[in-house]
Amino acid sequence: MLTLIKTELANQLSSLLELPSESILERLESPKNPEHGHLAFPVFAFAKEWKKAPPVIAQELADKIKANQPALVAQVSPMSGFLNFTLKTQYLMDCLKTTVLDQPENIGRSQAGAGKRVIIDYSSPNVAKPMSIGHLRATVIGQAICNLAKMQGFEVVGLNHLGDWGTQFGKLAWAYQQWNQEYDFKNSPFESLFALYVRFHEEAEKRPELNEFGAETFKKLESGDDEITQLWKWFVEISLKEYDRLWALLGVKHDLVRGESFYNDRLKPTEKLLEDKGLLVESDGAMVVPMDDPKMPPCLIRKSDGASLYATRDIASAIYRMEELKSDIGLYVVGVDQTLHFKQVFEVLSKMGYAWAKDCHHISFGMYQFKNMGRMSSRKGQIIEFEDVVQKAIELVKEIIQEKNPELKSKDKIAEQVGVGAIIFNDLMNDRIKNVEFDWDKVLDFEGNSGPYVQYCNVRCKSLLRKSGYKQWPKTFQNELKSPEAIQLLWILLSYDDVLKNGYKIFKPHIIAMYLLDVCRQFSTFYAKNKILNENDMVQSDLMTLVGATSLILESALGVLNISAPNEM
Ligand code: ARG
Repeated sequence: MLTLIKTELANQLSSLLELPSESILERLESPKNPEHGHLAFPVFAFAKEWKKAPPVIAQELADKIKANQPALVAQVSPMSGFLNFTLKTQYLMDCLKTTVLDQPENIGRSQAGAGKRVIIDYSSPNVAKPMSIGHLRATVIGQAICNLAKMQGFEVVGLNHLGDWGTQFGKLAWAYQQWNQEYDFKNSPFESLFALYVRFHEEAEKRPELNEFGAETFKKLESGDDEITQLWKWFVEISLKEYDRLWALLGVKHDLVRGESFYNDRLKPTEKLLEDKGLLVESDGAMVVPMDDPKMPPCLIRKSDGASLYATRDIASAIYRMEELKSDIGLYVVGVDQTLHFKQVFEVLSKMGYAWAKDCHHISFGMYQFKNMGRMSSRKGQIIEFEDVVQKAIELVKEIIQEKNPELKSKDKIAEQVGVGAIIFNDLMNDRIKNVEFDWDKVLDFEGNSGPYVQYCNVRCKSLLRKSGYKQWPKTFQNELKSPEAIQLLWILLSYDDVLKNGYKIFKPHIIAMYLLDVCRQFSTFYAKNKILNENDMVQSDLMTLVGATSLILESALGVLNISAPNEM
């Protein structure tokens, strides 16, 4: 694919330009205007040393190359400070053959991360509470980054930093002991648990002494009281079961659950370490680590009552992940509202002398903004739940299918694939840093920039392949492609590996979503301008090969975003 093509071009140019191929390789880029060619080589950097104006350098180098044209170059043209290269179609076709058609299971894969481990903390909900729309984002973005990292050859550990510790569990256990008979724990355990949680807080507003009872019960939990510990374990179990159900809907599965409670016996040693390094400072009875930037609040390590904090657990947890689990990179897919928290935690780790602190990254993201909320009835007032949004999407897709394609087989399964895909794509098509505008009409617009649009493009490819009459579509080209739209499609398909690399580099799945839209748009142009079926056999066969390759790439890239690719819809 593109990495290979760039490397080969750089190698072939190296002796001609008398430059090391690595330095050519790192400069090769896509021309701003695709009509200018496939790859561009900027020469500005040489102006000073060679004491010549960039356009002059470009002209001279172009002449040199033309005199001794490298095998894969069809055309080289100087344009202001750039050398623009158009590559030979046959070469591109051969490249598609070896990197896509001959090994569909390896499409887009790289070995860049081989031998390295990356731990990705994502989704991480809080026991007894429904996953919010923020957790939906964390789940969807986190899973896409897991998939991207795998494609780069990393060993990936998807980790759930479950919120399973804190005084609220004392409150919950107390509430359970008081009121459990009033709830249907047998049939709806999770709903009952959350109802207890809400009830406790409502009643504590009126009777603040309840908080005392909660605190006492939490003390019991901390000291290992048998009954309370059993209750707590059960709460965690009920919650995980519920989350697993939702994750399954999105095709998500963590490799490791390490809830906050896992670090209980590592907190004292962590505090001791901080103390030994002289980092802990007292402040109003609490222990803190001051930050370098005086405008930044200090990192709270221990409250005046001795209780540990979210940050203490994250410090212990980072040490566990990087030292014990020997991770090379630590990613935290968590909303933008926790930016300060992660800045503090990473700075503390770096002050502790852990060089790997620089390899820990907060993968932050913005929030959902709902347009025409009216179509979303939330079960519990203002809170918009993860599941409500997903179920609503599935329902709406069912209606669309019923209207447009009532004969479709396995409607329910396809509605689920399309509904879930629509939600995921609508999320991932945005730069994660930005807020996501959530507009049902756009999410489900089969013709707009949406998940269903991409899935449908693949369905069109599949249906063409079926109609072509081939048992197996041809995996080899017969003749050189001539249609400009076909050649452009071929080129876009070949850039897939580069897109994955760039997406991983900045941990941004929207790069892949945008690419999918590019492929679909180019496929539509190609489809509109070329008679794929009915032309004389040879042409049809080669175009079919391109259709097959398009489908392979679409399915792979959808897979990276964790979106299914139905065969029909
Ligand atoms: N449970 C937290 C929340 O729902 C997210 C945890 C993120 N991970 C971490 N290591 N702090 O806000």
